[in-house]
Amino acid sequence: MNKNIVCVGAGYIGGPTMAVIAKMNPDRKVIVVDINESRIAAWNSEDYSLPIYEPGLVDVVKEVRGKNLFFSTDIEGAVKECDIIFVGVNTPTKTFGRGAGYASDLQYWEATARSIKGYANGDKIVVEKSTLPVRTAAAMEAILNDSAEHRFAVLSNPEFLAEGTAINDLVSPDRVLIGGPQDEFGLAAIQEVVDIYASWVPREKILTTNVWSAELTKLAANAFLAQRVSSINAIAGLCEATGADVEEVARVMGADHRIGPKFLKAGPGFGGSCFKKDVLNLVYLCESFGLHTAAKYWEGVIKMNEHQQERIVSRLIKEMFNTLANKKVAVFGFAFKADTGDTRETPSGAVVRQLDEEHAKIAITDPKALPNAAKDLADLLGEESRIVLEPDPYKAAEGADAVLLMTDWKLYPSLDWQRIYDSMRKPALVFDTRNCLDREALKNIGFKVLNVGK
Ligand code: UDX
Ligand code: UDX
Repeated sequence: MNKNIVCVGAGYIGGPTMAVIAKMNPDRKVIVVDINESRIAAWNSEDYSLPIYEPGLVDVVKEVRGKNLFFSTDIEGAVKECDIIFVGVNTPTKTFGRGAGYASDLQYWEATARSIKGYANGDKIVVEKSTLPVRTAAAMEAILNDSAEHRFAVLSNPEFLAEGTAINDLVSPDRVLIGGPQDEFGLAAIQEVVDIYASWVPREKILTTNVWSAELTKLAANAFLAQRVSSINAIAGLCEATGADVEEVARVMGADHRIGPKFLKAGPGFGGSCFKKDVLNLVYLCESFGLHTAAKYWEGVIKMNEHQQERIVSRLIKEMFNTLANKKVAVFGFAFKADTGDTRETPSGAVVRQLDEEHAKIAITDPKALPNAAKDLADLLGEESRIVLEPDPYKAAEGADAVLLMTDWKLYPSLDWQRIYDSMRKPALVFDTRNCLDREALKNIGFKVLNVGK
């Protein structure tokens, strides 16, 4: 009989992943549990106002919710009812103690492991879904199997989905990675998890490894992707200085099939919940093993990313006659990339804070991310605040001296830029950090146009 599945953590990872697993495994019951009651209530809401925005997610949830997919706060009941337990709780970067600023804070993971142990009524397979430092599974196994009545196999099944394309990434993954202990109990557990994915993923795309390889692969894959973004942004600065065009450079570089065209878009730098955290984890790991040069190498990827945001603000200040005080800047986009409302580590956040320090008046607009922007910027938004959040991009741009485009929402190129120009103070500037607008058309309207890497 196919085993039931529970996932602890109903976030960006747990929600979409379990929805797709339930859809593809109609004969299994899938329960998603979370300690956050309002989040579970949103997943269960009648009008499907789900707690996260992800294209295509609502359709999958509509298909399976109440059939074989359930959302609940009853962790105990779910652990008792299911033999396979995925854990997708958050693991933020530590803000205190040893490894602060680099290592992951594993307190939620550990608390979850302890409650699984407390509620277990038989042998269980525990599957790491959250990105975790290498060797976490070993620590968890020690906690779970220490004087326990039941046996636990701890596997690592890292998630490679990107926000905004999560459903497609889950339905047609490049690969699924399952790492586990290489003994009889571990290998049998790996096979159980392989079977879940094999109901829709071609078997040759399901790769199995030992548990540490799986954990490290996730960090390494994200570090390589982040490094590509930092590398192209480093080239972008040089393009601006020399008169080369980063899009031309990237196009020709990407035509070399050894390099490939993806992740060569210069811009405001990477954001999101994973890249920075995972690179920092890698830095910490290298340091812990005395690999100081390797640690510095990866740390450079993050420094380059922060530098990119500082450079954008410096260029804007220079173009605006060296002062932003009391000038209005309309920031188009607060999400860390298009098609998500997520703002974790968003470059827009860093840039807005720097603009605020310059005493600019800031109107932030975004089609999905303003509720998160309000939370992230709570310390800057108050009665005396110079910042306003404005859903309508036309209103945000009214009377502005500059539009600073930070997120590549598809909506932005199709706006009526003549109307925006007419409503702005002159000289009107557009700084398109994503190189997604029609530069020549904007110039013809009368805008002064800045781009990254040109
Ligand atoms: C993200 C990353 O993508 C992942 O790799 C990283 O390890 C954690 O952050 P995500 O699903 O986006 O994962 O996290 P988030 O949306 O914060 O969801 C985590 C959920 O776990 C929250 O809803 C939280 O309430 C829940 N949780 C946390 C529990 O149910 N129990 C706990 O003890 C702690
Ligand atoms: C990433 C990984 O892609 C995914 O496999 C992993 O599981 C989680 O982390 P995500 O953070 O959702 O996914 O977004 P991604 O599409 O990878 O973009 C990350 C950041 O890099 C964004 O801020 C994006 O705008 C930026 N980026 C990406 C660039 O600046 N240039 C590029 O060419 C590509």
